[in-house]
Amino acid sequence: MELQTERAARLEYTVATATRGAAAIDIVKTKKCVFSGVQPTGDAHIGNFLGAFKYWVASQDEFENIFCVVDLHAITVYQDPATLREQTRTVAALLLAAGIDPERSALFVQSHIGAHAELAWILNCFIPMGWLQRMTQFKEKAGEDRESVSTGLFDYPALMAADILLYDTDLVPVGDDQKQHLELTRDAAQRINSLYGPTLVVPEPSIPPVAARVMGLDDPTKKMSKSEEAAGHAILLLDSPDDIVRKIKRATTDSQRDIVFDRQRPGVFNLLSIYQGFTGGSEAEIEAHFDGKGYGDLKGELAEVVVAALTPLRERYHELMNDPGEIDRILADGADRLRPIATATLKRVMEQVGLG
Ligand code: TYM
Repeated sequence: MELQTERAARLEYTVATATRGAAAIDIVKTKKCVFSGVQPTGDAHIGNFLGAFKYWVASQDEFENIFCVVDLHAITVYQDPATLREQTRTVAALLLAAGIDPERSALFVQSHIGAHAELAWILNCFIPMGWLQRMTQFKEKAGEDRESVSTGLFDYPALMAADILLYDTDLVPVGDDQKQHLELTRDAAQRINSLYGPTLVVPEPSIPPVAARVMGLDDPTKKMSKSEEAAGHAILLLDSPDDIVRKIKRATTDSQRDIVFDRQRPGVFNLLSIYQGFTGGSEAEIEAHFDGKGYGDLKGELAEVVVAALTPLRERYHELMNDPGEIDRILADGADRLRPIATATLKRVMEQVGLG
């Protein structure tokens, strides 16, 4: 409830200053604001957990937190409607199971707050095509098929910028793959500010020091990804202990022996990074721990660590899914708490730009 009170005070302040024009974003904050999001597509995996969710959960007392299930981003590629609705709830339940506490963090669904799409349109008018054409994620996702993918896929980063900028976000905790989108968000905010005077808070990315880019177990040169279908590629957060053990056993390594953090040996590096992500400890400590041991030991111990970390999450998830109505209530409450803030920021931008 703390978030609600602070936000309400801030909203009053924002609305008051918005009417005064140029100094519109001279907002006094007691805590930094964190915003981050996850797509409700495919099954969430340990890359999502180690690169993002773990930090979202751990920083809940330190910051004012907003976490979003980004269903508007999901439809940039075709989604079966019933599956999308189901996955939206599933991802929310996974976040709650991982430890997101709705008392300390606002959790909501992107399409429940119309201001996201509205601000994205305004930002579109200030984001040059060239910036979007440089996005490596777009190039990867569109592949050879650039003429037939949706305009939404191309414009994906503008909507992401709107998500972040609507809440005067200071910090955006994400995995390494989102860094370029964050740079574009900063550039878009700076462009608006330089044209119209201070209007938007320019956010900072927050990328984890360990496991910011977890790689596929089957091919450690490829990022672990929800859209990859090979059975041994990703460890899913809802995988059974047997599946986890089997996938780790089959993970690609190399023909050397020593167990050290060496980026030139991507298979072993990836397994060690996952181990470090789950256990903590420095590289030197982990290397010392595995000194004299073989790949079989590394894989066995890693599987134990991952199973131990994911078992309580999986159990909690199934408990939560027994009462889907409660998850929907949490999501509706999150949107209700945030809507006034998003609306105030949108109003501020519209006034600065000369709309409305
Ligand atoms: P998404 O759904 O692909 O991933 C959610 C989070 O998980 C991180 N992640 C990884 N981290 C480490 N290793 C991996 N292999 C790995 N794969 C994914 C992602 O970096 C992300 O932090 N565009 C975003 C969703 C989004 C968003 C936002 C994020 C929409 N609006 C605003 C932050 C702020 C995405 O597709 O995430």
